Amino acid sequence: MKKKVYHTALKKANVLIPEDVERSLNYFEKDGNIAFKYDLTKGMHEKFKSVDVIYSEISWKAGFKVFKERVGEQPKQKEYEKYLDSVKEVIDKLEVPAFITGGRGILKHLNPDDAFPVFLWGSKVELCLFNGAEVPRDRIRNNFEIMSHVAENFNKGLDFSCGFGNFGKAMQEKGKNFVCSDLNGKCIFYLAKWLMNYK
Ligand SMILES: C[S@@+](CC[C@H](N)C(=O)[O-])C[C@H]1O[C@@H](n2cnc3c(N)ncnc32)[C@H](O)[C@@H]1O
Repeated sequence: MKKKVYHTALKKANVLIPEDVERSLNYFEKDGNIAFKYDLTKGMHEKFKSVDVIYSEISWKAGFKVFKERVGEQPKQKEYEKYLDSVKEVIDKLEVPAFITGGRGILKHLNPDDAFPVFLWGSKVELCLFNGAEVPRDRIRNNFEIMSHVAENFNKGLDFSCGFGNFGKAMQEKGKNFVCSDLNGKCIFYLAKWLMNYK
């Protein structure tokens, strides 16, 4: 059976995990798109600066430990809070519209301009909006509809917790560009092969 492609911390038999991916990749750039391994807790990165929108399905607190263990690390004290601080820092520094999904717990930390519930891979989460980001609420119910809306309205999107790259795919489908980064180099390898013709 073909596995579904999105990086989740939850155990699901029919979903791709980094262990299924043959190798890791640190950096690849092609045709105006960039994919690279980057730990967002380090904050802003030069390569983020060319985008006109941010979309990201950020890690939940409970999943953060799993994602760290998948790269052979243990979370340090308050590291999840540092991750959220970096999400906010990049949104504030880039000053572009940002669409961020996550559990209700992120609302207090990120203090979005607006938020409302949507479905992410079947689970109810909050969509947080920043810097003038808007969505037609009557027709946006899930992450695919949000990604498609973002890809229609912007030219180059950043996803700083990109997993296997569904946001990059959504941008590409509309002929747009992306900058995608993730803690896990296996996600970057998968994305580069899938979307960027990396050999
Ligand atoms: C919910 S998943 C994103 C799934 C993604 N939208 C996809 O299409 O596969 C959250 C992602 O956050 C990444 N992540 C966790 N901690 C991170 C960190 N410190 N820096 C960057 N990415 C991180 C995980 O590796 C994981 O890929």
